[in-house]
Amino acid sequence: AVERTLSIIKPDAVAKNVIGEIYTRFEKAGLKVVASKMKHLSKAEAEGFYAEHKERGFFADLVAFMTSGPVMVQVLEGEGAVLKNRELMGATNPKEAAAGTIRADFAESIDANAVHGSDSTTSAAREVAYFFAVTEICPR
Ligand code: CMP
Repeated sequence: AVERTLSIIKPDAVAKNVIGEIYTRFEKAGLKVVASKMKHLSKAEAEGFYAEHKERGFFADLVAFMTSGPVMVQVLEGEGAVLKNRELMGATNPKEAAAGTIRADFAESIDANAVHGSDSTTSAAREVAYFFAVTEICPR
């Protein structure tokens, strides 16, 4: 089925100036960018986005990292977009990410891991709506 998923290029990858290289991977895999914005997240925005992790030991570090610089937030659309994007990203820990994945190629650590992608269609619906109004999404 054609799905939408929420993708974030994190502060480490934006700082490395590889936004375009990462977009090229989405496009070459058949995913379309149907909404996009650059944002410097506030602490409250990052905490709300990652609310499901708030009891985890890494939560404070995660929020600090995600607010350390601008991010690119985009909605990707395509056949099986949620899983396709997760395959392109590779494992959360770049040390475990398969060769040729975004995290293997651009990420340094489990915190500075270059990209986020929704883990299910349910979380994708919530995450897309967290950042984008319906009128900001441009299917084509
Ligand atoms: P992300 O897909 O953005 O979702 C939550 C983030 O928390 C994850 O990527 C990692 O960057 C970060 N994180 C830090 N430590 C851990 C951990 N032990 N397990 C999972 N995620 C972690």
